[in-house]
Amino acid sequence: MISQNTIQQIQSRIDIIDIVGAFVKLKKRGTNYLGICPFHNERTPSFTVSPAKEIYKCFGCGKSGNSIGFLMELEKYSYVEALRWLANKYNVEIEETEMSPEHKLIQSNADSLFIINNFAQQFFSDYLFNADEGRDIGLSYLKERGFREDIIKKFQIGFNPGDRDRFATAALNAQYNIELLQKSGLVAIRDNKPADNYRSRIIFPIHNQSGKILGFGARILKTNDKAPKYINTPENEIYVKSKILYGSYFARQAIDKADECLLVEGYTDVVSLHQAGIENVVASGGTSLTQDQLRLIKKYTNNLTIIYDGDSAGIKAALRGMDLALEESLNVRLVLIPDKEDPDSYVNKVGAAAFNEFIIANKKDFVLFQLNVSLKDAGTDSVKKSALVNQVAETISKINKAEDFTRQQDYIKQCAELLKIEEGGLHALVNKFIRDRITKDENKQSRDDANDAFNNGQSPADIENDALVLLNKDEEHEKAMVRSLLEFGLKEWDNNLRVAEHIFAEIDNNQLEDLIDNKNLIALVKTYKSWYDAGLEPTSKTFLYHEDLAMSTLVVNVMDYNTDISPNWKEFYQGKIATREDLYKEEVFSTVNYLKLRKTKRMMDENQREMEKEHTIEEQLMLLQIHQHLKQIEIDLTRALGTVIFR
Ligand code: GTP
Ligand code: MN
Repeated sequence: MISQNTIQQIQSRIDIIDIVGAFVKLKKRGTNYLGICPFHNERTPSFTVSPAKEIYKCFGCGKSGNSIGFLMELEKYSYVEALRWLANKYNVEIEETEMSPEHKLIQSNADSLFIINNFAQQFFSDYLFNADEGRDIGLSYLKERGFREDIIKKFQIGFNPGDRDRFATAALNAQYNIELLQKSGLVAIRDNKPADNYRSRIIFPIHNQSGKILGFGARILKTNDKAPKYINTPENEIYVKSKILYGSYFARQAIDKADECLLVEGYTDVVSLHQAGIENVVASGGTSLTQDQLRLIKKYTNNLTIIYDGDSAGIKAALRGMDLALEESLNVRLVLIPDKEDPDSYVNKVGAAAFNEFIIANKKDFVLFQLNVSLKDAGTDSVKKSALVNQVAETISKINKAEDFTRQQDYIKQCAELLKIEEGGLHALVNKFIRDRITKDENKQSRDDANDAFNNGQSPADIENDALVLLNKDEEHEKAMVRSLLEFGLKEWDNNLRVAEHIFAEIDNNQLEDLIDNKNLIALVKTYKSWYDAGLEPTSKTFLYHEDLAMSTLVVNVMDYNTDISPNWKEFYQGKIATREDLYKEEVFSTVNYLKLRKTKRMMDENQREMEKEHTIEEQLMLLQIHQHLKQIEIDLTRALGTVIFR
């Protein structure tokens, strides 16, 4: 457990621009910073970071949060890991309270899986270099294949011994939890006893972009038909196959420098190319690229070069994923390695220099390559050929026109030539695919809208703009009250009370439910009150760094983000514009009383409806009295609010 003292030290040093900027290219816009959102696919930046508020918010996908939340979301860190990352970045020494066996259990799964993987990597590496079996079998195998020791160490390659449970026993002795060991894929239960899962296999750790171990690929020594060549970590909290690019940690800088990412199929391809000095290389693991993987690549470069062996099954898989790459506006090129070699064996055969030359000389444009392959395949079959024309048109239609207009035109021209068809005709066909897609997207959008309305309990016919605006406004008022509590709660209200105390005197816990509809906001206020009553001094920041991500997100939502008066404005008017800060008492007064007024009006409406029903004279009189009483409250509140607002 990280001590409270350490957490506070970290929090005081956090610079969100620095942190987010390590992952997203940010440009200054006024008081904020703007960049391309790392959480969704966009071309024009709508990802905003406010250094003053220490939060980020994407106006495209709605994701928002603080620095810690950012790291948790992007790097899939746990809260504690995010803190460790920050401590490391800001040179804060971590003060740790002793970890008991119980604590090991309680720690979040993801957290523990990283720790287990780390332990396992050290065990396997140690075994490879220091145990007889490791050296004689594992290391000699790797050396025979030509891997140097420095490269083996860099990639932290290791060896799992052939015994039944040597690793499992070591891990259990070190107090690691058996369920989590199973979850990590390292240990399985066989015949009711824990056993190693990767016996007598070379172990390739798989790192995330920041070098933490997500899982492993375990290669058998001699391929045979009975056992799979590789066993991989099963999907778990940290190993998500669709998001993994093997080697990305070691390739980041080289990709940046070369402005190009090479993509190969296998672990050994990555390691061998590194050894040959070609470091801008990652592996997909032989499946078609996913959108997440492409996005990871696109963070560093727009140029993707796929290097596969010519007759591999992987090439078909890679081709399948390529429409996605075009949508992401990546320039995709392809190099096929000849003679049944793969990049690993080929670079070992011809050496680094010749390999590089081969790549440069044989890069083919992906779209044209695909077309050539299919054309050969279609031969003189006219049905196949017309299907091919359609397929080509669809592929070309996916190139983002706004960003790459000339590229699309070029492709239409070149493909028309290859297909021996009219350029104008292909053009029209491409446009048809674009139109179809737009219509489809629009239909989907309106379906989504109707669904949202339905989920809110309205029938689609009910929705009128006005009603929606009003509904939102209602919630805005609730947020406004909570905001004034968070922002001004610790300021003075009068000689005796602080703002928070005033608000809680006006609204006690029971009334909260009457005045505020939004359950999450109620929970937030209650949490504030319990902290305040316990002698803490809560501010929006306390919530911002709350361990519960939902809570911190809500606070980001509540704190207004766009209504700041820019410091320049303020200077310009030399302080004559009153800011919210200057008028905080008025704001607290009006936000609290507005909710009371709203409640009063609701009660009056209800009373009104009651009066319209049949009643005895006595009942009628009582309802009338209630009405008058409420009316008086309404008048008083309106008047009070009026004085404040129009003073
Ligand atoms: P070497 O043959 O030792 O050079 O390994 P390689 O990495 O080149 O393997 P290969 O070209 O056969 O396969 C490419 C990639 O596909 C591997 O690195 C693995 O990621 C994946 N792969 C291959 N075989 C298997 C398998 O049996 N199971 C799983 N899960 N993945 C595999
Ligand atoms: Mn290979």
